[in-house]
Amino acid sequence: MKYRTIGTDPKTGREVSVLSLGTMHFGTATDEATSFAILDRYAQAGGTFIDTSGNYAFWVGTQGGESEELLGRWRRSRGVGDEIAVATKVGARPLAPGTSFTDNAEGLSARVIRESAERSRDRLGMSRLDLLYAHIEDPAVPLGETVEAFAALVAEGTVGLLGVSNHWAWRVERARGLAAAAGLPGYEVLQYQHSYLRPRTDLPGSRSPDGMPNMVSGDVLSYLRAEPQLTMVAYSPLLKGGYVNQDRLDGAEFAEFDHPGTPARLAALREVAKDAGATVNQVVLAWLIGAEVPMIPLVGASSVAQLDESLAAVDLELTAEQRTRLDAAG
Ligand SMILES: NC(=O)c1ccc[n+]([C@@H]2O[C@H](COP(=O)([O-])OP(=O)(O)OC[C@H]3O[C@@H](n4cnc5c(N)ncnc54)[C@H](OP(=O)(O)O)[C@@H]3O)[C@@H](O)[C@H]2O)c1
Repeated sequence: MKYRTIGTDPKTGREVSVLSLGTMHFGTATDEATSFAILDRYAQAGGTFIDTSGNYAFWVGTQGGESEELLGRWRRSRGVGDEIAVATKVGARPLAPGTSFTDNAEGLSARVIRESAERSRDRLGMSRLDLLYAHIEDPAVPLGETVEAFAALVAEGTVGLLGVSNHWAWRVERARGLAAAAGLPGYEVLQYQHSYLRPRTDLPGSRSPDGMPNMVSGDVLSYLRAEPQLTMVAYSPLLKGGYVNQDRLDGAEFAEFDHPGTPARLAALREVAKDAGATVNQVVLAWLIGAEVPMIPLVGASSVAQLDESLAAVDLELTAEQRTRLDAAG
């Protein structure tokens, strides 16, 4: 395993593995025994950065909590302590079972942030959450209220680092500006959807009529380049299996890849994978980890074999020529 530091303050910053493990389906679609086996394998391989959310997996018809509860049981049964960082999220829990974050989200008021963080700590069995993200934007709450509420949890020691997910870049910068001006800790870790295929981020969707705030766009990339102390965690880097399952990639869920650049990018990926003696998924992960603006891929897995394939990507070093070929395509 390889490691990098997230956060800048020595009191809250820490080292984590360059590959993060997502647990979105653990305790629901992925049963407990399989989830535990995947978590055990990840820890055994030196993985130290696990991702969950207070609202996983609300889409089964609940308000979520299943993933955090499973992680709590795993942590207790294995005696896991500070050596493994757990990141969780607040803001996108539906207020009633059977609803969603798009129509009925808890949001980012001071009260919700406090209550949801407390619920997450209980479920996970952690006195301090290593990293707490604002999961989605809440335009109805003044940004200053959200910023102060997150900072209060850091001051109390119940949260380590702060992060932000799926926000327009200008909203992230504005929140960080407010925090800095008030001498408060701000967001240091960003979590967005990102992979090798270029998405059409201009397509309106359920999150915004203006495009896709959840994707790494040019705005987000240039922000990271200018602020190298920020960390980008890239979720769904394997396109939920889309690189190895064309039907999945062709599905409505991935409409943003339905454009003329995609076939060229896929062809380059397959060529480089062949050259490197690696799988397509591994090339994508290595490309992200070793990029000029390096990212921490946040992978999912529904079997130990899938995780093993992703873990092996940590040791795959792409040559400069392979990287140029990948970057130039599409
Ligand atoms: N911040 C956010 O809003 C947000 C949104 C989404 C996700 N996330 C986080 O990101 C994590 C990962 O998301 P994700 O599951 O979409 O990531 P992903 O890594 O793109 O997809 C993982 C899925 O890809 C398939 N897969 C993985 N390895 C494979 C292989 N070798 N061969 C074939 N298929 C393979 C599996 O699907 P099958 O199970 O179908 O085989 C697996 O469940 C989540 O658990 C969550 O923590 C965050």
